[in-house]
Amino acid sequence: MSKSKLDDISPNPERGSGKPAAATSAFSAGRRANVGVASDLVEIADRESVYVWDLPVRITHWVNVITIGILSVTGFYIQDPFMNTKGIAADNYLMGNVRFVHFFVAFIFTANVLFRIYWSFAGTKYAKWHQFLPITHQRRSSLLRVIGYYMFLRKEPPAMVGHNPLAGLMYTLIHVFFVIQIITGFALYSLPFSGGFWPFAFGWLNVLLGIPVVRLVHTISMFLILGFVIQHIYSAVLLEIEERSGLLGSIVTGYKSLTISHIKESRPETAPDVPSEKAGLKTKGKRQNGS
Ligand code: HEM
Repeated sequence: MSKSKLDDISPNPERGSGKPAAATSAFSAGRRANVGVASDLVEIADRESVYVWDLPVRITHWVNVITIGILSVTGFYIQDPFMNTKGIAADNYLMGNVRFVHFFVAFIFTANVLFRIYWSFAGTKYAKWHQFLPITHQRRSSLLRVIGYYMFLRKEPPAMVGHNPLAGLMYTLIHVFFVIQIITGFALYSLPFSGGFWPFAFGWLNVLLGIPVVRLVHTISMFLILGFVIQHIYSAVLLEIEERSGLLGSIVTGYKSLTISHIKESRPETAPDVPSEKAGLKTKGKRQNGS
């Protein structure tokens, strides 16, 4: 509720009260504080907990975070060993162990990416592929408004329940880089094999581009993914501060805390699901805090 509306309904203690000035100003300071508390309470009461990210989305997200972390450090070591051990290399086998960890985690990462692609067809509403591509008119116009927001042309980002369309596009792009990383990685993995599945499935890329180019693409792609991570965390923190929707926590709990007006504003996006809980917009009721 706005301050002016609160003024309408609260008695004005200063008008003709005859109180000493100090007492009056202390009273009005207290009243201003009350107005702040009251508007906070109105905002808290106006919030719904909305279930946005299902369990597979959250699990694949955090498996990505862990595996990309390990793959980046071990991959960086393989292409430029930044530390060495004393003595004969074969005795401690440091590079061999690092490569083993890199390959092992690469298999987990690949399975995770493939599962997330499958889940973008089989998952719940906000996990689906149409969250990633601006295929509807509403998402295309929201995309322009998000870009306007990042270019300081708009004060607020458009209200969305799931991914905003620019984030969705970034996630599409990052999955393209994940696939590039997987294909070039397995092409390099196939090199020591003289025959069998790996050279058959991925060896053609080494022949087509040449091994140095495959290595270069694999390395550049790693840095682009890390660049995405920096931008991604910046945007998540920015929108958390802007919307106070519990966005950061939502990728752990699955729930966002959205104002009713926010949910209504994104209505064309949520319309097919309202009021049916079955289709995806599951709410947990009013939240006890506004975080
Ligand atoms: C290697 C690091 C990371 C990668 C590769 C990554 C990637 C992604 C991807 C692909 C999504 C889309 C989720 C989906 O629909 O499957 C996503 C969403 C999200 N991530 Fe991350 N993430 C990383 C780190 C983080 C960290 C450290 C945070 C901080 C808490 C974070 C917070 C979020 C949030 C809040 C969303 C949902 C945002 C939205 O509304 O679009 N991410 N991330």
